[in-house]
Amino acid sequence: MIELAASILASDFAHLADDVAAAERGGATILHVDIMDGHFVPNITFGPPMVKALRPVTKLPLDCHMMVENPDAFIADFAEAGADLMSVHQEVCRHLHRTLQQIVHHGMLPGVVLNPATPVDTLIEVLPMLHYVLVMSVNPGFGGQKFLPLALDKIAHLAELREEMGLNFRIEVDGGVAHDTVAQVVEAGADMLVAGSAIFAPGKTEQNAKDFLKLARAATPAQL
Ligand code: DX5
Ligand code: ZN
Repeated sequence: MIELAASILASDFAHLADDVAAAERGGATILHVDIMDGHFVPNITFGPPMVKALRPVTKLPLDCHMMVENPDAFIADFAEAGADLMSVHQEVCRHLHRTLQQIVHHGMLPGVVLNPATPVDTLIEVLPMLHYVLVMSVNPGFGGQKFLPLALDKIAHLAELREEMGLNFRIEVDGGVAHDTVAQVVEAGADMLVAGSAIFAPGKTEQNAKDFLKLARAATPAQL
């Protein structure tokens, strides 16, 4: 199943609940929440209070993408605030297996994120533990960047591994995924599509989401 994870980084923060409702009417089934600490990435965004504020205004699962140096320190706080999914970057987790265990222990679905330069094969041993793998198709830190095509081979490689290993983790893609790039990521095998600047725009969010999902579904490989 193809899902749109609307990235609130591109929303109008002064009207966040309205923007979230518009994305949901347009068919978004996940809210992607970018957590940036100014160290792992050169930008800062939200903490647990944002997740706590969102929790009562939407039924959609909250997908926290942890762009922070030390995700272990924040697992409990985000879980308590109401996060449903949490993905951590491979590049900062010295004890990735333990971090994933902690995410599960706190009742969230675990994911691992790969920067553009990080190979898929670094995850082979933990793939059976994962609900999802997030393939970055930009260098993390900012919305509105240009899609990096090198993500396509990584998505396809993950889809092959999933098949070979008999697993069912989801493949999420994040960065520059828009109306003109969504077909290729779906064809490569991605099924959780993060989109921020392609979706949120004053008065157009609902329609943007509908159009995006239509293009994504049209590109879905036929089920045999
Ligand atoms: C980038 C973030 C993305 C960002 C995507 O570091 O992880 O989730 O919101 O924005 P767009 O869809 O505009 O590329
Ligand atoms: Zn993200």
